[in-house]
Amino acid sequence: MNIKALAPRSDFPLLAGDPALRYLDSAATTQKPQSVLDAIGGYYKRENANPHRGAYALSGAATEAYQGARDSIARFLGASDPDTLIFTRGTTESLNLLAAAWGRANVKKGDRIVVTRLEHHANFVPWQQLAVAVGAEFKICELTSAGEIDLANLNELVTPNTKVVAFGHVSNAIGTVNPVADIVAIAHRAGALALCDGAQGAPHITVGFDSLGVDAYAFSGHKMLGPMGIGGLIAKRDLLEDMPPYQMGGDMIALVGDNATTWNVLPHKFEAGTPNVEGAVGLAAGVAYLEALGMDRVYAHESALVQYATEQFASIEDVVVLGPPPERRGGVVSFTLRDVHPHDLSQLLDAEHIAVRAGHHCAQPLMRSLGVNATTRASFYVYNDSSDVDALVGAVARVRERFAVAL
Ligand code: ALA
Repeated sequence: MNIKALAPRSDFPLLAGDPALRYLDSAATTQKPQSVLDAIGGYYKRENANPHRGAYALSGAATEAYQGARDSIARFLGASDPDTLIFTRGTTESLNLLAAAWGRANVKKGDRIVVTRLEHHANFVPWQQLAVAVGAEFKICELTSAGEIDLANLNELVTPNTKVVAFGHVSNAIGTVNPVADIVAIAHRAGALALCDGAQGAPHITVGFDSLGVDAYAFSGHKMLGPMGIGGLIAKRDLLEDMPPYQMGGDMIALVGDNATTWNVLPHKFEAGTPNVEGAVGLAAGVAYLEALGMDRVYAHESALVQYATEQFASIEDVVVLGPPPERRGGVVSFTLRDVHPHDLSQLLDAEHIAVRAGHHCAQPLMRSLGVNATTRASFYVYNDSSDVDALVGAVARVRERFAVAL
């Protein structure tokens, strides 16, 4: 099998500088193309000032750079109203914003919150703790034996007192791609909000926010070629307008009286303090790189690598790949090797210059239901090719020969 990389390694300075590295941890964070580094450097060299605050030209240039980034990222995500894109530090902050601001204002004792067994802790713990704080019911939708959301169970759990159904677009831990339209239909039938953690969706799948149906969608820039510390929340305008602000400070106010304050318009109402302009500009460059590749091709490329890796692993006894069949998974292969702890395995792979993640992947409720403490996870992106898969599978086979068989 020869699956070529979709993007040349030479575009990614870290990969170009370390030709032997097999970087298979893009679900944790992606490497950055030169164009992203140039955009960040260029912003600081030519446009840096505090946006929204100065009347001078340079502050205007910084404001334009920040707004321009918002416009292009909103367009990439299929949101026609860019002011409904709130910049945050990333998916975790976006989900906490929803749980704290919308949740505290709208979820009361006796209401119900529904999440799924697949969730990353960032889309589980904020809702669990909100339920504990206000006395709401907290329900977890279980999975089928294939590791997919059990829609029949979801249907039972989403009762008329349900205020929110929080779910991920794609599982970070086992790669399950969730049926967004079905979940939204179940949530909306009960009058609940459908809130989507898109950390592993936006980097890999065309989001199309306006037609996706969800009420809000959270994402992280560093998982889609952008820098760390930038991401966002896109939500329906009326949801954001009805929600109280999350953090108080500069730029999010309209008028501050001695005893009362009014709020600025969107998006500023949710962006207190000096914004991360460098991050927004860098992420816009990352998004431009993905747009040039084409998101359909990005998804097809990852699917081909996942399919190939799954087939190769099938030939190694004692390796179990978790989750649904490859055609219903994102760019993730999560597996166990009998009698070898994932932490040991990942260290042995690191000795061969193969970078994978091992652990519970911030999804302990999922790990419990799978009956494992941890897995080893390889995740692919545009710069990977089939030689990365061959290197991984060969190295795992050697570890099995050295350790597992001896036990
Ligand atoms: N949430 C990131 C991952 O799945 C860090 O690796």
